[in-house]
Amino acid sequence: MIHRGRRLRRNSVLRSLVRENSLSVEDFIYPIFVIEGEDKKEPIPSMEGQFYYSIDRLNDEIKELVHLGINSVILFGLPDKKDELGSEAYSENGVVQRAVRRIKEEFKQVLVVTDVCLCEYTSHGHCGFFKEEKVNNDKTLELLGKIALSHAKAGADIIAPSDMMDGRVGFIRNVLDKEGFEDIAIMSYSVKFSSAFYGPFREAAKSTPQSGDRKSYQMDFCNGREAIKEASWDIEEGADIIMVKPAMSYLDIVYSLKERFNVPIAVYNVSGEYAMVKSAAKAGLIDEEKMIMETLYSMKRAGADIIITYFAKDAARIIRGEYHDNN
Ligand code: PBG
Repeated sequence: MIHRGRRLRRNSVLRSLVRENSLSVEDFIYPIFVIEGEDKKEPIPSMEGQFYYSIDRLNDEIKELVHLGINSVILFGLPDKKDELGSEAYSENGVVQRAVRRIKEEFKQVLVVTDVCLCEYTSHGHCGFFKEEKVNNDKTLELLGKIALSHAKAGADIIAPSDMMDGRVGFIRNVLDKEGFEDIAIMSYSVKFSSAFYGPFREAAKSTPQSGDRKSYQMDFCNGREAIKEASWDIEEGADIIMVKPAMSYLDIVYSLKERFNVPIAVYNVSGEYAMVKSAAKAGLIDEEKMIMETLYSMKRAGADIIITYFAKDAARIIRGEYHDNN
């Protein structure tokens, strides 16, 4: 007897009937870069199709997202001034804090996630308190707690620490609870690898470390079991959602976390992954639309519940059947 797998692949109705995974606009979180100034929507050179927005130009963008069915965003801020302690990251009037307030004024239903980190705000470009060429873990926690609290006060729905300091989830949870923000969820970048895939983002956010690298806090990409340890610590400390970042080269990690833990899992389809697809498509080597779908589905198949992706708008248009390659 021949096993006939092809029986269920005969036509598209049959294939969709037996399809194991689905992809929907509700799975997406769209990253937005916010800058100081007025009436600015400027292309990000390292990330074709992505833009910097001044706060007063955010509403048009959010309107477009909502129209496409995308109701979740993650904000990254580029301050005008950077300093040793990254003080603009936790200023009440920082660019992210004002952006959150502005979005929430007009779009109450839009879920606003904020990235909690220092690298975009520090003059040295490291993700924490940096002295004598070292990032001090416990001193960084104090700063992260301040950032998280300032975001929660501004109205953020989910706080997403991306710094990879030890103990930060528990520390931030405590700060939020003490201040009456016990309902604000934490989505932890639990398994964040030290990765070359962040290149275009660092160009965009001007956050490349001035000296050294991030290997003493971000994970070594040779390791898989360590990811389980990191994720379990974060869950114990109170993370509501755990994240794996980058996505495409790390789907084995997503799969193993999904088997072990029952919290929602997010993946971050990062800037380098975006750039690879974009540039290969531009060179005429691949079909962009098909590549977007295949890579996003691979993340769902591995076990991702949530996908943070610069392709969210493109994917939403593909799903709605109105894709135009106009980026
Ligand atoms: C901030 C942060 C980074 C990214 C998200 N948050 C950069 C880094 O860790 O160097 C990367 C996102 C991307 O590449 O799209 N710490």
